[in-house]
Amino acid sequence: MNRKPLFAANWKMHKTPPQAAEYVSLFWGAAEALVPRADIVLCAPFVDLETLRLELAPSSVKIGAQDCYYEKEGAFTGEVSVPMLAALGVAYCIVGHSERRRLFAETDEAVARKTAALLAGQITPIVCVGESLEEKQQDLTVQRVSSQVRAALGDLKAEERGKIVIAYEPIWAIGSGLADDPASANATIAMIRATLEGLQSARILYGGSMNVSNCAAFCAQQEIDGGLVGSASLDARTFVQLIKSTLA
Ligand code: PGA
Repeated sequence: MNRKPLFAANWKMHKTPPQAAEYVSLFWGAAEALVPRADIVLCAPFVDLETLRLELAPSSVKIGAQDCYYEKEGAFTGEVSVPMLAALGVAYCIVGHSERRRLFAETDEAVARKTAALLAGQITPIVCVGESLEEKQQDLTVQRVSSQVRAALGDLKAEERGKIVIAYEPIWAIGSGLADDPASANATIAMIRATLEGLQSARILYGGSMNVSNCAAFCAQQEIDGGLVGSASLDARTFVQLIKSTLA
């Protein structure tokens, strides 16, 4: 890793506000000690963000959301805007997660608009890209992933691209227990960096069944700057252990 590593927990649809508060009480002391060497962010459901803001107040651990809408305000029932997230101290926001693309019909165009809105609102987007199993089997990984990267980031300026985070998450690896091979993830991430000007300095994470046993091998790769971690982030002690394993 050449850049400061980043570890983002993706809690998905887990944890009520009291559960989020309990997590923070177990997490922040140990996590705080790691922050000089790694940026750490907890991407939580909207309902937990205020709890995180209050509970993490004395900490350098950052707050993240899992989605947003690109308009600032208006008649968009059920949506949450970037200024609303900013008012809660949100520093990062996941966009284009494969679950949102697949289950909630999020398009490449929406991902691009959300990414631009987040940058304009001073929140760092964590843009997710990745191929399906079928695409992998047909040798379409490069084509699929590079087209997602171009669609999401093509209209940005090179210096804006350098400020975002990309998470390469092969869809078949998410929640399956079958992580990608670290060298193969490294090659795909090197390809992502070469896709557009500015991405050489962006942080690019691996995600998909990252755990305490495999995290260090991923992070030892030249192009991989950390992880977007689902299941293995749900337990506070496990997530701390995972981050520590990469910093030894
Ligand atoms: P996982 O999820 O670590 O449970 O595979 C990762 C993600 O979907 O971001």
